[in-house]
Amino acid sequence: MKILLVGAGGREHALAWKIIQSNLCDKLFIAPGNAGTEKCGENVDIKVSDFEKLSAFCVANKIDIVVVGPEEPLVNGIYDFFKKKHATAHIHVIGPAKEAAQLEGSKAFAKEFMRRNNIPTAAYKEFTASNYEQGIEYIRNHTLPVVLKADGLAAGKGVLICTNHIEALAEFELMIQRAKFGEAGKKVVIEEFLDGIELSVFVLSDGKNYLLLPEAKDYKRIGVGGTGPNTGGMGAISPVPFVDDVFLNKIKVRIIEPTISGLKKEKLEYKGFLFFGLINVKGEPLVIEYNCRLGDPETEVVIPRIKNDLVELLIATAHQKLDEVKIDVDPRIAVAVMAVSGGYPNEHAIGKEIEGLNDTVIEGSIIFYAGTKKDGDKVVSNGGRVLAVTSFGDTIREAAEQSNYMLEQLYFEDMYFREDIGYDFK
Ligand code: AMP
Ligand code: GLY
Repeated sequence: MKILLVGAGGREHALAWKIIQSNLCDKLFIAPGNAGTEKCGENVDIKVSDFEKLSAFCVANKIDIVVVGPEEPLVNGIYDFFKKKHATAHIHVIGPAKEAAQLEGSKAFAKEFMRRNNIPTAAYKEFTASNYEQGIEYIRNHTLPVVLKADGLAAGKGVLICTNHIEALAEFELMIQRAKFGEAGKKVVIEEFLDGIELSVFVLSDGKNYLLLPEAKDYKRIGVGGTGPNTGGMGAISPVPFVDDVFLNKIKVRIIEPTISGLKKEKLEYKGFLFFGLINVKGEPLVIEYNCRLGDPETEVVIPRIKNDLVELLIATAHQKLDEVKIDVDPRIAVAVMAVSGGYPNEHAIGKEIEGLNDTVIEGSIIFYAGTKKDGDKVVSNGGRVLAVTSFGDTIREAAEQSNYMLEQLYFEDMYFREDIGYDFK
């Protein structure tokens, strides 16, 4: 089996690391990949958005499966692009069709889907320039905080939690009248603020059946104690201590199953990973968002806990046979801590040499490379989030301390990581 993995982050290194452990994988290519994926297969210099080049590469190299890591190519229709072309129609693309990927690509689409399928989520209304005045009135009468969401993909920046009406009205004006988040962001979802603890739940869907993967919790803020600006994610833990059987059952019955049956009923083709961004409000799960992919850095804890052959799971997904496989999960706790370049999520340096990578091997830990590239023999930083270290332990604290210890053995200029990942749990 020849596989092409699309993407370049820590998530893709974790997927590549797992894929090459399978006897079913004869050759793995990664486009464009990073300095970590290069150790698992062959990096190919093609952008994730260049469907023409990706499909030509797949034909020339007789690729059987394409695994798509990030949302952008999915929301832009990579699945449909491959299906429509005679030369690539037989290739299994792991990821939803364009229309189904709108679950992530359009907040309004996702909210309407949840409403149609009775899936618990925050109460909301959507507004555009055509009902702008009503939007103003809606905000004025809304309880605080009020949440404003730009409709389209906005690189994680399109959600604003406003604690007063003046700020909310000003932001609403910027979004609709001045396209603060681009054309797609001129549609705005205004919703109620939910107060609770967030968690990430993942399934692999084959369009008929689903396989529940280990859940995780992401630490989004830059600073210790969950302070400062939001990031792509500074660390993750799996499993999540408050997810017991009762809570998990509510998630399955109220959220996952209606989502999978809703997709089927609405003929939204979905053979891929589906990420439920949930919030636990006093023991009740609600959906904050859908993502049409795996999370990063959640993948760095979820994938290492899966004991199954991942390629076997991907083949079962492609053939709609996920009902025939059983997930086998490592009971140990995994904690990933992300090392970032100083200044991230704002301006930060790249091109800094990373030292200590070869010497740092500790049993029970894995270094996943994120924004990195090779520069001759050196590995240098090439993004805000640079490395994730995942460690296993019997307790969250033990695993987190080991990841922190590992990161202390590594160095690049202005490297920073949160030393308190998972410390909100005992
Ligand atoms: P999203 O892009 O929808 O995931 O939103 C980004 C982040 O904003 C989420 O991870 C939450 O932390 C927060 N958020 C979004 N919607 C809500 C809401 N209705 N109530 C509270 N927090 C929210
Ligand atoms: N870590 C959150 C995400 O991947 O969207």
